[in-house]
Amino acid sequence: MSSALTDLFPYPIVQAPMAGGVSVPQLAAAVCEAGGLGFLAAGYKTADGMYQEIKQLRGLTGRPFGVNLFLPQPDCADPAAVEVYAHQLAGEAAWYETEPGDPDSGRDDGYDAKLAVLLDNPVPVVSFHFGVPGREVVDALHRVGTFTLVTATTPEEAQAVERAGADAVIAQGVEAGGHQGTHRDVAETDGSGLGLLSLVAQVRETVGLPIVAAGGIMRGSQIAAVLAAGAVAAQLGTAFLATPESGAHPLHKQALTNPLFVRTELTRAFTGRPARGLVNRFLREHGPYAPAAYPEVHHLTAPLRKAAARAGDAQGMALWAGQGHRMARDLPAGQLVEALVAEVRAARGEGR
Ligand SMILES: Cc1cc2nc3c(=O)[nH]c(=O)nc-3n(C[C@H](O)[C@H](O)[C@H](O)COP(=O)(O)O)c2cc1C
Repeated sequence: MSSALTDLFPYPIVQAPMAGGVSVPQLAAAVCEAGGLGFLAAGYKTADGMYQEIKQLRGLTGRPFGVNLFLPQPDCADPAAVEVYAHQLAGEAAWYETEPGDPDSGRDDGYDAKLAVLLDNPVPVVSFHFGVPGREVVDALHRVGTFTLVTATTPEEAQAVERAGADAVIAQGVEAGGHQGTHRDVAETDGSGLGLLSLVAQVRETVGLPIVAAGGIMRGSQIAAVLAAGAVAAQLGTAFLATPESGAHPLHKQALTNPLFVRTELTRAFTGRPARGLVNRFLREHGPYAPAAYPEVHHLTAPLRKAAARAGDAQGMALWAGQGHRMARDLPAGQLVEALVAEVRAARGEGR
């Protein structure tokens, strides 16, 4: 590790921000304390909710950590398609004895208010998903001493990240669990996105920024591989989702290694933006028909997903997972960091 960003944490391991209550302060703190970089996910939080989590995390660890924001998305291109999808989901609502959500119940996720909090109460690292922040935002964060990272899924997106003046680019391969952080929602759900090793190599030849590699990484040998390809650190989501500290629903954790769920797919079924999850009934039945409409579809399906979770039915939940899900270990997060570090060393032939 050579860049100033990675001087913040001893091991080249970043715990991915995971919105929806997964990357809670307890998880981030355990990772930070073990020598990785823990992250809070503020994408679905209010500015105050984010502030409270930051306070809680600061009470649990004095080590550097990160906070992740979603970039605001353009207006819904096709409200009629959302209406058609809402009709399609009527049967789900009846089955789970609930109502679909209001697709128009919140387009503004409080991005500006969250930025204001992060400028008033600076944190060590801020990362951005779903787009590139304006240069003035990056400059303002730099002035308060915050490192900035932005997700890219193509070399062209990495160039945009470099132009914005960010400190590092998160190269997210198509293997990644959860949402693809494409800058515009042009992503196909057919899996034609770049695989991680190819993406890291291409980004390395395109921009001069330090690269954090994300997507499908479950073992230290894979971390060693992305470091050899030119990354300075690896960002792992699914691997940390399985830990006892993660706030993921127990059914979600169990599903990662349940032989019932053997495949993942990119789908718009739950949120309207391509995201990788375990193939379950909801994804199979609705994925092919879901429109490109984030966050409208996210609001529409939220009560259905909650009702499925209440009913203990994993077939109706959004089971975000990367392609490596079957290799998940339910080790405590600190022990997982230690195991990964030992595996990196073994892969490099160190200590022999
Ligand atoms: C449950 C879940 C939620 C996620 N939420 C976010 C998020 O809020 N912000 C973000 O930048 N990335 C998010 N991601 C994507 C991760 O940053 C990362 O790209 C991905 O987890 C890497 O692939 P892996 O899960 O195979 O390790 C999420 C991933 C998962 C699995």
